[in-house]
Amino acid sequence: MEKGFVVAIDGPAGAGKSTIAKLAAGKLDFAYIDTGAMYRAVTWKLLQTGKTFSAELAGKLANEINIEFRPENAVNRVFVDGMEVTEAIRTAAVTGLVSKVAAVPDVRTAMVDQQRRMGNEGGIVMDGRDIGTVVFPQAQCKIFLTATVEERARRRGKELEAKGETVDYQKLQAEIALRDKQDSEREVSPLRQAEDAVYLDTSDMNIEQVTNKILELVKEKL
Ligand code: DC
Repeated sequence: MEKGFVVAIDGPAGAGKSTIAKLAAGKLDFAYIDTGAMYRAVTWKLLQTGKTFSAELAGKLANEINIEFRPENAVNRVFVDGMEVTEAIRTAAVTGLVSKVAAVPDVRTAMVDQQRRMGNEGGIVMDGRDIGTVVFPQAQCKIFLTATVEERARRRGKELEAKGETVDYQKLQAEIALRDKQDSEREVSPLRQAEDAVYLDTSDMNIEQVTNKILELVKEKL
């Protein structure tokens, strides 16, 4: 369906991009590509080496890594060099280091190359920070999805609580704000809204409303 049609969803951490992108992709019968998971996969691989972070090491690993997505029911399973890392890439250790890894120019070049290859295959919904600005500037449909820091911390906290974790909301809010800052102020491909992207503040919207809004925008362009 719709070869080459790209839906690019960008925005800050915790705006609900992956939940919404996955749902929209399912409804459209498009593939879903979570580019944040790719930067997390490189970070996970780096931590596995037991070595401390350096831009050189991160760049080398990004060029060697084999990342695969295998969607299964509602779960987008992630594999690194054949090993499943779906859960392992969501740990606090990976989350704490990923912004640094994602700021390395060689890492970005390697990931963007892979993302373009994946995207050229057909109808896709891709989410991240630089999809509409750098990866697919020609994407037919671009959305910048955001919400207030307070609301994003509340959503993340609820997810963590559902997994049985105790949540410190002040700390969560500070971590999200720090990640926003690191992602927007880095030199290479910072998080920013593409000029032709539709800005969507989801602070007062539920998942269904946001998904429907996106489907509406896509249908206008299809
Ligand atoms: O969406 P996420 O939290 O899983 O993303 C993890 C990190 O990767 C985030 O701190 C920013 C970075 N990232 C990026 O720089 N470019 C992308 N296209 C996607 C994510």
